[in-house]
Amino acid sequence: MSKTSLRTHQCGELRAEHVGQQVALTGWVARRREHGEHLAFVDLRDHSGITQCVINEDVDVRSEYVVRITGVVRHRPEGTVNENLPTGEIEVGECEVEVLRKATPPPFPVDARADDVDEVLRLQHRYIDLRRERMQKNLRLRSVVNSAIRTSMERQGFVEVETPMLVPSTPEGAREFLVPSRKEPGSFYALPQSPQLFKQLLMVGGVDRYYQIARCLRDEDLRADRQYEFMQLDLEMSFVEQDDVLDAISESVLDAAEAVTGERPEPIPHITWHEAMERWGIDKPDLRFGMELIELTDVFAATEFKAFAGAASIKGLRVAGRSDEFGRNQLDKLTDQAKKLGAKGLVWMRVTDTDGTVGLDSPVAKFLSDAEQTALAARMEAEPGDLLLIVADEWMTTCEVLGVLRNDLGRPPVHQGPYKYVWIIEFPLFVGIDKETGRPKPGHHPFTMPHPDDVELLESDPMKVRSIAYDLVLNGWELGSGSIRIHEPDLQRRIFTALGITEEEAARKFGFFLNPFDYGAPPHGGFAYGLDRLVAILAGEENIREVIAFPKTQSGADPMTNAPSEGDPAQLNELGLRVLPKVE
Ligand code: AMO
Ligand code: AMP
Repeated sequence: MSKTSLRTHQCGELRAEHVGQQVALTGWVARRREHGEHLAFVDLRDHSGITQCVINEDVDVRSEYVVRITGVVRHRPEGTVNENLPTGEIEVGECEVEVLRKATPPPFPVDARADDVDEVLRLQHRYIDLRRERMQKNLRLRSVVNSAIRTSMERQGFVEVETPMLVPSTPEGAREFLVPSRKEPGSFYALPQSPQLFKQLLMVGGVDRYYQIARCLRDEDLRADRQYEFMQLDLEMSFVEQDDVLDAISESVLDAAEAVTGERPEPIPHITWHEAMERWGIDKPDLRFGMELIELTDVFAATEFKAFAGAASIKGLRVAGRSDEFGRNQLDKLTDQAKKLGAKGLVWMRVTDTDGTVGLDSPVAKFLSDAEQTALAARMEAEPGDLLLIVADEWMTTCEVLGVLRNDLGRPPVHQGPYKYVWIIEFPLFVGIDKETGRPKPGHHPFTMPHPDDVELLESDPMKVRSIAYDLVLNGWELGSGSIRIHEPDLQRRIFTALGITEEEAARKFGFFLNPFDYGAPPHGGFAYGLDRLVAILAGEENIREVIAFPKTQSGADPMTNAPSEGDPAQLNELGLRVLPKVE
């Protein structure tokens, strides 16, 4: 497979068993070392590894020259075997060197660790960065994942369908990139945030099981887990209920993980959104570490401490054995952090040991009765040396604030094993109230099916309504989201009403999408997960940039191609566009 017209082997391939063979290798010069009389060692590199070639010192080859070397494989002399190199037992001697392309010295060493090199420099010369072992490994791992996913989806009877990149702009979801129309100046396409509308229409079209490794574009602020362009494994299924979708997705994710790690992860547990918030204070819990939130509301049911009295929800976090790490300064910082997150305050307590009795060292201890202190210590299983953090507030605030503190204080980097997958199900249908309209906001999107047991609450108590929406989480990262969709017009109308969307507005904004349902929409549901995120975690990377061949920097630029760049006046003219002066 590795053989071509120019080479017999790849640079990582040769072993003792090849000794005596005449070979031809091609690649880049990784290193040249002079070695005594008329001798030089050249380490030749391609994506598969490095082979040492012994050449005549007169040959002009330097770092990153592209060369073809022919010669004979031989054992390295006694004492010079390199145990750290797969090809370390052999070298290629009697070499003839053909320079295929000279090269200017690279702006950074190709064998350095990637984190030693400035990010912008790496991206500016991404084609050199890609030669490095880390990027080669990541791209190949990504290819393995793509292939495993395709195989998995095909096996499960899914049909790959491509959907358009020039789509209508819709009011839902993340900010879109707009593409001006030349034929109709002043009109715009949008680039798809996801194939959502089209995949649902494929269900109306009788496709039954659709999947696509789909490019999506969102004009969002970039972060470690976000790029403008990213890839989803996107799917939609007809005549299904939630578990059919979860099973299909689980199968493909576990197949992909197994293809990379050689080990099939455990079946993925299901946890309700409510339980996730109660126990971990977040809808994407990282299950690699404990430190669960501890329920304390009942402990302080009759308290006289003002901050706790009458609070809807009181919970605590036990930071085991780490009270020494937190001086007054750090505790003030934690308190500020809690307040920034919306808490009214944060109670901290150091657990002490005075002659064998457990005590609580805290400015608020004096406001708590002995019985409360004892019950608190027992409930939190407090041990001397622990730091206890307590928040009293509305249920959601208490959970969320402690959830963030738990992650801040305990969470390992995302890529560190083990892998902990979890399904979060029964998300609330609505999240929060829109300040302007006073109406609830959709949790997933307005086409998400409400939980059948809660439909009757749609008008009377909408915030209590759960949905058939679900997320897949890995090591505290949201891998993907999906839902069962509404396929039935009356229910859809009630949701729009709850969202404060009038019939006229719904027809205008979503008509092109919903009218087709009148021609016969099957019950359907789907899901999409971020391939970049899955691949990054499986590759042991903390930033999805490391698993994308040509990503953007944090500020959204591509230093290699200089995109984005100013529009050419003639082109702008043709599109009917004029650029306004920059607003400072
Ligand atoms: P959602 O918007 O939750 O759902 O996106 C699904 C998954 O896509 C990935 N993702 C991203 N990855 C990298 N960079 C980004 N900017 C980015 N944005 C999202 C995440 C996320 O979980 N159409 C619905 C799915 C459905 O209902 O079927 C959707 O796109 O991993
Ligand atoms: P105060 O009575 O406002 O002076 O608060 C006394 C202590 O309790 C301070 O350390 C506050 O940070 C903390 N505190 C106040 N409100 C809350 C709350 N809702 N939850 C947790 N701690 C609080």
